[in-house]
Amino acid sequence: MSATAKKRAPLPDDIRAAKGGAPLVSLTAYTTPMAEMMDEHCDFVLVGDSVGMVLHGLPSTLGVTMEMMIMHGQAVARGLKSAMMVVDMPFGSYEEGPQQAFRNAARLMSETGAGAVKLEGGVVMAETIAFLVSRGIPVMAHIGLTPQSVNTLGGYKVQGRGDDRDALIADARAVTEAGAFAVVLEKVPANLADAITADIAIPTIGIGAGAGCDGQILVVDDMLGLFTAFKAKFVKRYAHLGDDGAAAIANYAEEVRARTFPAQEHIFADEAPKK
Ligand code: KIV
Repeated sequence: MSATAKKRAPLPDDIRAAKGGAPLVSLTAYTTPMAEMMDEHCDFVLVGDSVGMVLHGLPSTLGVTMEMMIMHGQAVARGLKSAMMVVDMPFGSYEEGPQQAFRNAARLMSETGAGAVKLEGGVVMAETIAFLVSRGIPVMAHIGLTPQSVNTLGGYKVQGRGDDRDALIADARAVTEAGAFAVVLEKVPANLADAITADIAIPTIGIGAGAGCDGQILVVDDMLGLFTAFKAKFVKRYAHLGDDGAAAIANYAEEVRARTFPAQEHIFADEAPKK
């Protein structure tokens, strides 16, 4: 799907139909200005629950709430014209069962205007995905490293290696059969991601899954060098805004202390008194 040929925001079916074509481009966003910056370049924008770690300083995504996702979803929606918005379902908002998932997914969609929701899990979430899709909620699945399960996965490890390979293929098939329109593959060996991409009928969106996926996604603050607490191997920093920002703030502090800011061009002159 070429960014220049876009007239309206793609629908989930357009994303599904992009399987095997030009790679789909995606980033996360959490604020209006960031959404505006990426709108014309992305096919879809994800309001990821990574917002908890990236913007709120949480240690994981587990503390992210529905209210946070709705607030950031509304902010991102204000900055998008031509990219579809997908909003993450936060931890605890869908795992109990299909009814709970429907209630919260419907709320996310109606209160943010999102075109779809994303949830984590493969075989175990297939019934829930089918329930949502059959009731009008387009679902993007997320398998491989699923950060909301960090405590049962034993850390942020590469998934699908060795004996776990077949289970990941089963997850990919299960979410496809359940009706997901695309699936995020996070932190899986590139050859396995290639095999899954060839095996299933919906687009694979890679993050740490090699160049053979149908599309790519990154956390925007990672690729802009704004989030510097750690850098995953799969992240490429296209800019160093964190370092640039820190240098700019140090410069400002120095100039305020030296009284060289504000300068003449930043101040207002008084008007001559009226007679
Ligand atoms: O929350 C997130 O940022 C994600 C990734 C796929 C980028 O789920």
